[in-house]
Amino acid sequence: MNEIIEQRIQKLLYQMTPEEKVGQLQQCGPSLVGAFEVSFEELLNMMFDGRISQEEFGRLMGTAKQDYHEEDLRAGRIGSYNGIGDAETANRLQKIAVEETRLGIPLIFGYDVIHGFKTITPIPLAESCAFDPHLWERTGRMAAREATASGVHMTFAPMVDVAKDARWGRVSEGAGEDVLMNSLYGAAKVRGFQGEDLTAEDAMAACVKHFAAYGAVEAGRDYNRVDMSLQRLFEEYLPSYKACVDAGARAFMPAFNDINGVPCSVNGWLLKKVLREQWGFDGMTVSDANAIAECVNHGIAEDRREAAVQALEAGMDMDMTSNCFIENLTEALKDGEVSMEALDRAVGDILRVKFEMGLFEHPYRASAEREEAQLSQENRALALEAAVKSAVLLKNEKELLPLSKQTKIFLAGELAEQGDEMTGAWAIGAPGGICVSVREGLIKAGAVLVDTSEEAEVILAAIGEHKDQSGEASSRADISLPADQMEIFKAMKQTGKPVAVILFNGRPLAIPELAEQADAILEAWHPGVEAGNALAALVFGEAMPTGKLTTTFPYTTGQCPMYYAHINTGRPGGRAKFTSKYLDTPLEPVYPFGYGLSYTSYEYSGLQAEELEEAFRISVTVKNTGSRDGEEIVQCYVQDAAATGRVRPVRQLKAFEKVKIPAGESRAVSFMIPYSGLGYYDREMNYVVEEGEFRFYVGGDSANCLEISAQL
Ligand code: GLC
Repeated sequence: MNEIIEQRIQKLLYQMTPEEKVGQLQQCGPSLVGAFEVSFEELLNMMFDGRISQEEFGRLMGTAKQDYHEEDLRAGRIGSYNGIGDAETANRLQKIAVEETRLGIPLIFGYDVIHGFKTITPIPLAESCAFDPHLWERTGRMAAREATASGVHMTFAPMVDVAKDARWGRVSEGAGEDVLMNSLYGAAKVRGFQGEDLTAEDAMAACVKHFAAYGAVEAGRDYNRVDMSLQRLFEEYLPSYKACVDAGARAFMPAFNDINGVPCSVNGWLLKKVLREQWGFDGMTVSDANAIAECVNHGIAEDRREAAVQALEAGMDMDMTSNCFIENLTEALKDGEVSMEALDRAVGDILRVKFEMGLFEHPYRASAEREEAQLSQENRALALEAAVKSAVLLKNEKELLPLSKQTKIFLAGELAEQGDEMTGAWAIGAPGGICVSVREGLIKAGAVLVDTSEEAEVILAAIGEHKDQSGEASSRADISLPADQMEIFKAMKQTGKPVAVILFNGRPLAIPELAEQADAILEAWHPGVEAGNALAALVFGEAMPTGKLTTTFPYTTGQCPMYYAHINTGRPGGRAKFTSKYLDTPLEPVYPFGYGLSYTSYEYSGLQAEELEEAFRISVTVKNTGSRDGEEIVQCYVQDAAATGRVRPVRQLKAFEKVKIPAGESRAVSFMIPYSGLGYYDREMNYVVEEGEFRFYVGGDSANCLEISAQL
């Protein structure tokens, strides 16, 4: 706690009127107003109902202008904006706040900088497959430099929602199904976004989301309920958010969902007891869009005023665009429904972040000059590196890949031409036309592309999901390859030529047919602005695929949720009838967590476990048995084989290391696994580390490992 800042907060609170205090809690989004006579919502309904055409809707939207509510701003009724993405507008609004309001409290500008601002890098699910915290931090830093140039102070990221159900479209926005991966990813992004000094002009506060366990929505249906034991919540979901607190994140966004019946937006146990009392978080909380108002839909609040009162009392500081706070809290305060203490706490949290960021001294961080550096070649080079490292080679029969540049290639699939599809979800700051398409990348690399499959020696099929098939409000009840995309593959397969699939998707897909019939599959996800150049480098072997999956690929949607860290059950699935399995689908996934091939191969040997004072030391030797230099992601999983309080997962990722190994050579790799990290929550919610047998699994993925036991 910075005593000087705390004194400044108290001094300002003393000067503020109740209306000005409530104004600080209001985050405004630029709303659309236009020549149309009806509300935006009604206009949408008119289009949905077919009362106006999509073209007419588009024309009317073209007449819309942004309403920045300047009069409310001048009156001290706005403390923040969401979605201001240019320096000129940010500086103009900031000038009103600083020079035309009574107390001159600066605004804090929030924006969704999820995987890049203008230089869009691979979607988080893709980037997590690099298993590379340093890379994640570097791309976070780059995003912060670009976004702060356009006036952004805070990003609504990282999203660290552990997601084990591939039906949920937002699995694209995080680091997959594993809590360690999400923890490391989130902490790296917090460091990258915020940098070393929050007062620096290129520092961007991280707003960790969605707190909490949004990735566990029932049936993978977005915004749905979340219901689980506290043990599971604390073991498998909360650690990734805690890791971001420990990394110094200055903001948190409560999730849309409830946890065990209490919506996160009004969940005092979550927002006060866990986040602040147990974890020591002292930054600000900002609701998700309209989430406070939606507590009425949840049924936990009778009306908007009650939702506002419950949210403030529960520990919500800022209201993102629902207007429940600004419309109701001043009256609720007068009526004694909320306390001045609760109001001062919320305002204090927000002022703390504004003081910490130096916004009072330097309110104008946006700079048209610094905007010039956005989408620079340097930034594109980093996006290229990230796209290469995020790709996962899933299949490569007879080492079809890499191809020579003299190979006659027929490139199939509209996704090969559609550069804008390469950004994936949440690329809201990026203009169109900035992505290198697959075709452009191949041509630039000197590929011999032919016009018909008849002329081809090899067919590259660019297929998968379009970017709007994942992300928010994009759950799919069937995660197989979209039918039109499967038709492209089948047509290419019928030519009898070798078919290498380049897969674009924002979630794990159920692709057993591809796995069986394609000759090669390169998982590219949605790789960002350098898509075409990255894929050309990988297809022609100028770069080596090194990525590994951070989500399980099921055989069929019916297996969802499907994840590697499952429990054994009393009747582990097997060939015998009365065991835990399906009649109509294999028990194993098509591709397991941690899986990924390369243009070389590796052999694991000599696994050893030593019991040291505070940790196990696990050692292994990895040999590059191929003809190309490689880089292997060595993974170490642990199973608590002797827990007596509750059943434990058959394995959990506890460590990994990315190791460069020249062709034909070996490297020794060792992991220190602290005893303190091997515990679990017992039946009374005590965190316990039990003595007894621990099994270690070490290998190149979660399924094919060497195994050894050790005793604690
Ligand atoms: C959305 C998303 C959230 C995003 C926010 C602001 O509804 O749930 O992730 O940060 O609104 O755009």
